[in-house]
Amino acid sequence: MSGRLTIRIPGGPDLGPQAETLRQVTFSFDGQPVVGLEGEPVAMSLWALGYRALGWNEESGRQRGLYCAIGHCFECRMTIDGQRDQRACCYPVREGLAVSRQSKPVDLEMQDGMDQV
Ligand code: FES
Repeated sequence: MSGRLTIRIPGGPDLGPQAETLRQVTFSFDGQPVVGLEGEPVAMSLWALGYRALGWNEESGRQRGLYCAIGHCFECRMTIDGQRDQRACCYPVREGLAVSRQSKPVDLEMQDGMDQV
């Protein structure tokens, strides 16, 4: 799939001529296929798609998401291609990448039925 994406985030910047060189790729997010731009950070692809919660705090269970967006705080840590605690704000999207959120509280798993056996 190719084509120019003029706006990734409503009200956000027009990527301009740079968008002509970015290739759309499909990767998975919590097991569901999503589309991003090859080479952009995983967290930015998910943000452009409307996802804000990138995981949950292991102790409090509160949602985590983008904070510094430059690789310092680890608030964006996710499991990427089977490796835990990867910084989604620094990890480039590519075709077939498997991305999932970490530390989902058990009560939320039961609510949405995603992890019921
Ligand atoms: S948002 Fe701070 S390390 Fe990614």
